[in-house]
Amino acid sequence: MRVIVTGGAGFIGSALVRHLVLEQGYEVLNVDALTYAGYLPSLKAVDGKSNYRFVHANICDRAAMERAVADFRPDRIMHLAAESHVDRSITGAADFIQTNVIGTFTLLETARGYWSGLGSAAKEAFRFLHVSTDEVYGSLGDDGLFTEETPYDPSSPYSASKASSDHLAKAWQRTYGLPVVVSNCSNNYGPYHYPEKLIPLTILNALAGARLPVYGKGENVRDWLFVEDHARALDLIAERGRVGETYNVGGRNERRNIEVVRRICGVLDELVPGNRPREELIEFVTDRPGHDVRYAIDATKLETELGWRAQEDFDTGIAKTVQWYLDNEWWWRPLRERYAGQRLGLLNSSKS
Ligand SMILES: NC(=O)c1ccc[n+]([C@@H]2O[C@H](COP(=O)([O-])OP(=O)(O)OC[C@H]3O[C@@H](n4cnc5c(N)ncnc54)[C@H](O)[C@@H]3O)[C@@H](O)[C@H]2O)c1
Repeated sequence: MRVIVTGGAGFIGSALVRHLVLEQGYEVLNVDALTYAGYLPSLKAVDGKSNYRFVHANICDRAAMERAVADFRPDRIMHLAAESHVDRSITGAADFIQTNVIGTFTLLETARGYWSGLGSAAKEAFRFLHVSTDEVYGSLGDDGLFTEETPYDPSSPYSASKASSDHLAKAWQRTYGLPVVVSNCSNNYGPYHYPEKLIPLTILNALAGARLPVYGKGENVRDWLFVEDHARALDLIAERGRVGETYNVGGRNERRNIEVVRRICGVLDELVPGNRPREELIEFVTDRPGHDVRYAIDATKLETELGWRAQEDFDTGIAKTVQWYLDNEWWWRPLRERYAGQRLGLLNSSKS
């Protein structure tokens, strides 16, 4: 099995590359532009393996994508490269439109050209997995879950750009017959998570005794999934998902943001006792503009049709994650020096 992973130097992409190279023994080509979010130390475990290769390239560069595909001749393309941080999309949407929309278009066209030239068995077996987010569905109230039939209703420049890319991927399947499958996943957490996102930021600030910013009143609910469970789901969807279908991926682990932050404080207080409870570092700050209230995934289709189950619940996953950050300062220290936790995504700091 030969797999191209785009965005393999990012948080989820690197978990997927580690899974495919080390657990599955697949031949993997990682195509990544190494933006601020791409970090090759996340791939230390696969570096030097004979079944792993890296190409430094931008998915918007058609010639580079055509070269990568022609040289590597993949059985699958798993497309994760994206601008992914909602706060950054509020103050700088242009990169999101470029990578998430134009980049996905470029990759779909590249894949279509390559796939059209395959022999009939390879053509039948080829898959393009487009990896997306539950944020395309907008916001839920107190009840209900996102299913694959929930209408799209994105709120942020990030989720709107991902929604656009989902529509492109589905259209390339319906119009050209490209064997596309789409996955929409809830919030991920786990090892190798860039310290601008809520969970790693909270862990590292709490360790440093720095304030723990919580947007609004911390009432926003997210459905948390351990990243390695997501990597296993993506592999399964690419292997057995039906062409033209969407699969929602989620851990059935809804938590309010304030509960997440308190839980991290509790775990850290046990593992590395401080002078006072770390909860005292919590500080409520101005909410994110357009902040969706609640996301929650109905993963029944993935569970019943493909037999996937999350192996971690939030309590086991967060304990593993905190321990990982304690054990892997070599990984996060250089990133903290680049980004120390300053606030992103306030409207008065916009550039276009
Ligand atoms: N993080 C989550 O909770 C979550 C949840 C559901 C879905 N997703 C989706 O999963 C995918 C991966 O998310 P992540 O959290 O790992 O993102 P990330 O920001 O950690 O990593 C993105 C990777 O893509 C690369 N990249 C960005 N622009 C590129 C370009 N133009 N060309 C080539 N490479 C480029 C970056 O260098 C980086 O390595 C994204 O498509 C995201 O929308 C993320």
